[in-house]
Parts: sequence; C-alpha cells; structure tokens
Amino acid sequence: MPAPYRIAVLASGRGSNLQAILDAITTGRLDAQVAGVFSDRPAAPALERARTARIPAFAAEPRDFGSRDAHEAELFGHVARVEPDLVVCAGYMRLIGAATVEAWTGRMVNIHPSLLPAFKGLHTHRQALQAGVAEHGCSVHYVTAELDGGPVVSQARVPVLPGDDEPALAARVLGREHPLLVATLRLLASRRVELGPSGVLLDGEPLAAPLRLDSAGVLHRPDLQPD
Ligand code: GRF
Repeated sequence: MPAPYRIAVLASGRGSNLQAILDAITTGRLDAQVAGVFSDRPAAPALERARTARIPAFAAEPRDFGSRDAHEAELFGHVARVEPDLVVCAGYMRLIGAATVEAWTGRMVNIHPSLLPAFKGLHTHRQALQAGVAEHGCSVHYVTAELDGGPVVSQARVPVLPGDDEPALAARVLGREHPLLVATLRLLASRRVELGPSGVLLDGEPLAAPLRLDSAGVLHRPDLQPD
C-alpha cells in the first residue's frame, strides 16, 4: 500500500474548509491524512477542530517575531516537519512571502471565494455585489508569488440573486467551497493534477480552463462538458 497522501492545512479562523476535509477523510471520500494544522492566530477555531480530531496543531503569532520572514520561517518550519505532500491554505489570511512560495511551488494550493481572475484579495463578495455580476463562486489555485494569481485548478459557480447581501452571498459560496475543495484534493491526492511549466496539468495534459464542479460535486473539464 502506498503511504497516505499528507496534507498540511493553514487556517486563520473558523476552519469550515478544514472540517470539510476532515469529514471527507472520515467518511472515505478522500484518501488522505491531515498531517497538521497551522495558524497565525492561536485562538483560531480551526486549531480546536484539529485538536478534536487528534491532529497536531501549531500557531505562531506574527507579533512575537521581529519580521515577517522570521514568523514565516517558524511557521513553515513546523509545516515542513510534518512532511506534507501538499499545503492547503484554507482561509489563511496572511500574505505568504516570495521565498516561502518558491520553496513550496507546485505543492501549495489556496481556496479563494471568487471566480478568479475576478475579485482577488479581500471582501470578494462585496466586490462581486458592487460589480453587479450575475455569477460568483470560488476557485482552488496553485499559490504563486502573485496574490490570488496562480494557475486555477477548479471552480464552482453560484448565481447572484436579487436581494443578496454580503452574508447571503458568502454563505452560498461557502456551501460550494467545501465540495470544491474536497473534489479537487481527491484529484491532487490521486496525482492526476499537477503544476506544469506553463499551467495546470490533468493526466499530464495542459488544462485549457479550470475544472468545473457540477451540482453532484463532480469536477468536469468545461471544454468537454457543455453547460
Ligand atoms: C473561505 O471563504 C475561504 O475561501 C476564504 O476564507 C474563508 C475561510 O472559511 N479564504 P473557513 O475558515 O474555512 O470556514
């Protein structure tokens, strides 16, 4: 039997995406192991979820370090010690420096609550409402030095409905983040998806557009699967 695929999760807050990963593993929908959970906030509920699941949890608070580099060296030093195959940023709310990104290139993904490249950065639901778009959603992408700018692996779409406010839209998107993340991690853990020299590869072939999650929680190539 091959060794289990090891995931390290970085989270700053609530940790509902972490919980979705843990639940998928427990119920046999994801063949992987969460090797550790890491945070910049000692009080993050995500850490408590990890401890409940008997997973090593570690926090390093930036204010305890003299520089961003020193904080990152400590946090990612602990990440490296659990020897993950993949680092998943799931609501990790700090910029990650270029040296760290470089060290983990192709082995670090982020879930972002917008249909990238639209609405990078913070307050994505507010950005979507202000832009008046009819569709919004979430993306899983490889982390590169450009904030929320790395190659996108997969996306899930939701409608923006009349009367939506930020909390309503955020809740609709979050409901799709969880299945999107789990389905994408399944592909990554099975080694079918990887980062190639000029973008995402699926089964060794370049992906022309992000994979799209259908209503049953299955990822499809949009070029092969009309709406
Ligand atoms: C999610 O919307 C994620 O996409 C964003 O931050 C939120 C984290 O939620 N980056 P949770 O901590 O996983 O519940």
